Amino acid sequence: MADDNQRYLIMVCQHRSCSRNGAEQVLSEFQKHQSDTVMVSQCECQGQCGSGPTVRIMPENVWYCQVRPEDVETIVNEHLASDGAPIQRMLNPRMHQAESAYAHLASQYQAFLQKE
Ligand code: FES
Repeated sequence: MADDNQRYLIMVCQHRSCSRNGAEQVLSEFQKHQSDTVMVSQCECQGQCGSGPTVRIMPENVWYCQVRPEDVETIVNEHLASDGAPIQRMLNPRMHQAESAYAHLASQYQAFLQKE
């Protein structure tokens, strides 16, 4: 169930590579969804230029890649409407793979610490 008080910041990169791939239209589509709980902002390069347009959503720090204008409706209806649950198929694998790899190492390390 969605939390009506949840607030989001949506950052859409408008730097060179993302702009060449339609980031301006993506930003424009997100701006249609600005509200008391959704703030939309352009941002500078996020270091993911090869997989843009890059969109980051806070507070969860979710990274979406190759976002097209037609994806905006999906992100709003699925991510924002579900208390920030990321859309797995749209995640930037470079950013989210690193987190899951670390989680795996962290659990291995915990098991190592508990060994007698
Ligand atoms: S130009 Fe958008 S992430 Fe670098």
